[in-house]
Amino acid sequence: MAEGGAMPEDGARREGMEVAQRSEGARGAGMERMEVARGAGMEVAQRPGADRGEPGLRVLVNARLATLAGGDGPRRGRAMRDVGLVEDGVVVIRGESIAFAGPRAEAERLGWLAGGRRLRDAAAAGMAGGGAAADGEGGEGSGPGGIDILDVGGRLVTPGLVDPHTHLVHAGSREDELAQKLAGVPYLQILRRGGGILSTVRATRAASEEELVAKARRTLARMLEHGTTTVEAKSGYGLDAETELKQLRVMRRLNEVQPVEVVPTFLGPHAVPPEYRDRTGAFLDEMVAVAARARAEGLAEFADIFCEAGVFSVEESRRFLSACRRLGLGVKIHADEIHPLGGAELAAELGAVTVDHAVASTRDGLRRCADAGVIAVLLPGTTWNLGHARHADARFLMDEAGAAVALATDYNPGSCPCESLQLVMAFAANLLRMTPEEILCAVTRNAAYAAGRGRTVGRLEPGWQADVVVWDTDSLAYIPYHFGVNHVHMVFKRGRQVVIRRTGEEGRA
Ligand code: NIG
Ligand code: FE
Repeated sequence: MAEGGAMPEDGARREGMEVAQRSEGARGAGMERMEVARGAGMEVAQRPGADRGEPGLRVLVNARLATLAGGDGPRRGRAMRDVGLVEDGVVVIRGESIAFAGPRAEAERLGWLAGGRRLRDAAAAGMAGGGAAADGEGGEGSGPGGIDILDVGGRLVTPGLVDPHTHLVHAGSREDELAQKLAGVPYLQILRRGGGILSTVRATRAASEEELVAKARRTLARMLEHGTTTVEAKSGYGLDAETELKQLRVMRRLNEVQPVEVVPTFLGPHAVPPEYRDRTGAFLDEMVAVAARARAEGLAEFADIFCEAGVFSVEESRRFLSACRRLGLGVKIHADEIHPLGGAELAAELGAVTVDHAVASTRDGLRRCADAGVIAVLLPGTTWNLGHARHADARFLMDEAGAAVALATDYNPGSCPCESLQLVMAFAANLLRMTPEEILCAVTRNAAYAAGRGRTVGRLEPGWQADVVVWDTDSLAYIPYHFGVNHVHMVFKRGRQVVIRRTGEEGRA
């Protein structure tokens, strides 16, 4: 259901976008700039339909690749350090897919470079985009038939980032709770007072579908600008049939009107609504019924629950998730975010796709998850923002349990109002002690599996979707090291160039 449909040309208003320019030039210092060659890149981002129907053939040369390619499944433990680095690499984008990603010498041998057989064949088959091509330093230029050959100047090129845990669709914001937080009121206490999640529930119930689409669309545009090309999104701000289904329909609509792919998760049991106070069992029965409707209408792929002290117990979570699993939904769980209830043990028992947060989990629970192939989705932006001293034990998960770890923003209006996976990458380095290679694996390949999209996105490999980020640096470590700014230079989604940023001065010098 996640395939994007026809995209209208109107486009949401975008904030803070810079004039589109394509830059080329030398590695490191002095990245030169030239006016954008192919349309206005930012406009393409606003109007993803602009170059639809023009499949195009694009060859990125002079790239430092991290392909994350090869084998099956998420990478576990130490294997997460293998990002498939290729110096002097080439990426061939053919239509919406990757046709080649690897060393230049191999691209040459296979006929993917200027004058090569495969390029000629593809041009003859009408695959060329016909757009202006950037002149490269190494003799590349416009290929036959207007093939777009783009010299990326030695920049790092990775798969598009995947954010596998967000609460994308909601109304309102909660900056008014900042003062309470700073005064030391704990997150769960704000919820008990009727604030927190319940305050966003009130706003989301009151919002129209159109308002929710418009707000989420702005959020997705911001995520895309920061390199995120696929997101998992949870409902959970309705806590009633009408609003939960409204949130899920908004996700479906988002897949039709903008380029970032949204993977829908039903999180009906995110909190107990006031009308069901002290009747949690009846509320869960109602939520199982909503899950069945969502599943029948193709509106959700996963089910999730907030398993936490004072919210839903392990036994309640087991009952809800087991019922959803029988409906054919994949299982995810907000587990042990604050208290060690045993959510990780439950995730392992149920064969969940992911165990999320897992901050207070027992080591035994984490080990069981690793053994059961459950991916740990860690959310260091949340523990940082809540001011918690304890963060998920990523080192134990990778070094001792041999788990597959993914990273996500947890984007939501309460515990983590942040769209940038790049900032989460910095938190992962400093708070979780993850290496730059592990971090990249956790926001690409492993995150793709966590979002149920491991077979289509998350790597640069022939046949995978052409979701590609060109970074304004040649160094992987530079991204988590230099935090708080956007290092994206260009983004391609399904082969279409959707972001070009003005870069240069702020580039790595
Ligand atoms: O993952 N902890 C539960 N759910 C979200 C927060 C939602 C909210 O505060 O609105 C989380 O942190
Ligand atoms: Fe969450």
